[in-house]
Amino acid sequence: MGTVTRRTALKASALFGAVALSSRALMPTAAAAEQAKTPTKGTPSPAPATHYGPASATGSVSEVYQKARQVLYPICRVCPQCDGVACAGEFPGIGGLDSGMSFQNNFSGLQQVRLKLRPLSGDKKPDTSTVIFGQKLSFPAMAAPIGGLAENFPHLHDMSEAGYFDAIIGGCVDAGTMGSVGDIQSDPYDVTKARYDVVARYPGKVIAGIKPRLNPNLISIIRLAEAANAFMITIDIDSAGRGWMDTSGASAVEPKTVAQLREIVRATRIPVIVKGITTPEDALLAGEAGVSGICVSNHGGRVLDHTPGTAEVLPAIADKVKGKMVIFVDGCVHYGDDVLKYVALGADCVMVGRHIIRAAFGGGRPGVGLFMKTMRDELEAAMVVTACPDVRSIGRQILA
Ligand SMILES: Cc1cc2nc3c(=O)[nH]c(=O)nc-3n(C[C@H](O)[C@H](O)[C@H](O)COP(=O)(O)O)c2cc1C
Repeated sequence: MGTVTRRTALKASALFGAVALSSRALMPTAAAAEQAKTPTKGTPSPAPATHYGPASATGSVSEVYQKARQVLYPICRVCPQCDGVACAGEFPGIGGLDSGMSFQNNFSGLQQVRLKLRPLSGDKKPDTSTVIFGQKLSFPAMAAPIGGLAENFPHLHDMSEAGYFDAIIGGCVDAGTMGSVGDIQSDPYDVTKARYDVVARYPGKVIAGIKPRLNPNLISIIRLAEAANAFMITIDIDSAGRGWMDTSGASAVEPKTVAQLREIVRATRIPVIVKGITTPEDALLAGEAGVSGICVSNHGGRVLDHTPGTAEVLPAIADKVKGKMVIFVDGCVHYGDDVLKYVALGADCVMVGRHIIRAAFGGGRPGVGLFMKTMRDELEAAMVVTACPDVRSIGRQILA
């Protein structure tokens, strides 16, 4: 018998949790109540869910997550703490690559950030809104680009890609912010084109995530994004390595030089964001290419094992480029307090990946809307007790 490490123990308990949840009706009351514990703030529902989300989300985020746990298992166990332990190495899927440490470092890095509680100096009604590229958002958070529905969630045949993106984008728009679409380079052009039909339904409200394809192919997708009136474009340049590498044909991806990035930036009037920056040096190179922004990201730990968490690297990057370009960041954003932390560390706006996936599968468009609105409310409450009357006032002074 192999050694039981912390990780194998946690994997086993997550597995047990999901199996037990599906048979909760047979459990004694106390055990069933324990199983009903869910990862977000709110009242857990005792009602087991059987299908994708409701037509309207009147319940709590906890209910949405209960449904998500049933729908997504075993790809995602919807663990109480989404820390990358139970799903380590499950890629394709929802986990981080190999040991999963990069994903786990995102989680632990953010947990280590401490906030100063200053209730005597608080503002009763802080303003959580912000403006990014001329557009007012209800709070500084958007959906991160997520692609590869068929590859990452192969058992979920009755959720179409269009339905999935509609849920993510519509829910974010309902919450006063931006949705997104992702990309997987193996998609044929007509699949990509159909994706932008969904984007066109939400003019000016969608982030178009595009893989670092060869420039002519990438620019042809930018044309689709322009025709659909996308809000901004992200290029996940970190996707040019292991797990994605294909060097020929329409699906080829490549690492980009500054000159290649500059060609892309000059090809469009839509703001271009380079996603996958984790060092000040790369942030400065992206600036040389003329990008409108960067996303500090290790792709949720899905492109390289053993990278630091994004909260650890963000301050040094912000020290170099804050105010010169828009700084986005992602990595385990779950609660409003997480948004507060990343903004305090130097981000202008955060992106939310896995938790939006869960909300979409657990509650459809209303579930995503509820999840994002709840996060906005949590941010507002956290700003009251950290003495931040508006987003502009959030800074390192609130870090303990
Ligand atoms: C299933 C899955 C698919 C993803 N697809 C894309 C993609 O198409 N484009 C992209 O730029 N990032 C993609 N990402 C990375 C996310 O945008 C984000 O960087 C990462 O998940 C970290 O955020 P999180 O910790 O909130 O999940 C994907 C992540 C996951 C888990």
